[in-house]
Amino acid sequence: MKNFLDLADLGRDQVVDLLALADRLRERPEPTALAGRVLGLLFFNPSLRSMTSMRVAMARLGGESVAVTPGAGSWQLETRSGVTMTGAAAEHIREAIPVLDSYCDALGVRAFAEGRDLAADLGERTFTAIASLCRNPLINLESSANHPCQALADWKTLDDLSVPRRGRFVLAWANHPRALPLAVPAAVSQMAALRGMEVVVLRPEGYALPETVMEKARRAAAASGGSVTETDDRDAALTGAHVVYAKEWGSTAHYGDAEADARARAGLADWMVRESWFAAAAAGCHLMHCLPVRRNVAIADEVLDGPRSRVLQQAHNRLVVQMAVLYRLLGGNGRRH
Ligand code: CP
Repeated sequence: MKNFLDLADLGRDQVVDLLALADRLRERPEPTALAGRVLGLLFFNPSLRSMTSMRVAMARLGGESVAVTPGAGSWQLETRSGVTMTGAAAEHIREAIPVLDSYCDALGVRAFAEGRDLAADLGERTFTAIASLCRNPLINLESSANHPCQALADWKTLDDLSVPRRGRFVLAWANHPRALPLAVPAAVSQMAALRGMEVVVLRPEGYALPETVMEKARRAAAASGGSVTETDDRDAALTGAHVVYAKEWGSTAHYGDAEADARARAGLADWMVRESWFAAAAAGCHLMHCLPVRRNVAIADEVLDGPRSRVLQQAHNRLVVQMAVLYRLLGGNGRRH
């Protein structure tokens, strides 16, 4: 494994192998496995979990980490090619990334979607440019259209909960005051399909996932024996669900148009996950969300504070699985994989 950019690059067997390694490192810690190794973290956007879990993962394996947040104690960075840099950015990624890469043994980068041009965001323009500038391993800590660390942690959570491999996984659109990126819904639908689940994307009209995202998930499902469908029929989608994975995302019908998106979501306040959503779900149906979450906007207190919520377990599993990713990329026990 050279990089960790997309679960689709790994395939099912390699994901299962990583999850087994995560379990092994939890049962038999290796506190010096990455001694002398340094992870660089570059966050163009805010984070609680991704930043801290990566730093703690590195520390628990005996390595060190440094974090850079452009525009907050570090130069703002330009990511576009060919621009005349008269704006706020003092440095271009064409210099900044090779410099950081030369100091560190691996880089973890977060660079959200710009949210203006759907095709450009789905094409991962910024992350592809960053990857082309790295000599050492690169870890995607949320790009325009992917969040593989979150997806890997969520797969582990499903396994920990003994959710059936062929179980019904409902990715449910949830309310939010503004348009959020497609990275998590894209990564999570791909993950559940690759695991072999019956994936149902439940969303209101105007919020369909892009066809490229659906097609990628369908390919994963075909290889793993699962399925992927999409609907706006909430009752039908939730009937028999083993997992409801709530997530907020922007309107794909009005991508890049904040005012049109706001008008579209004005009547969607009832797309807040409540306990009543689970009336026809399978017994013990789990509620998942990647966090952060707006209480009583996306998910009601009664669900987040109730027995079906797995959000804290998901967040903890970020640390557990990222230790496995770092171990593989940086050669735990002196072995480079
Ligand atoms: N789920 C997740 O990536 O959380 P942060 O945005 O806090 O890193």
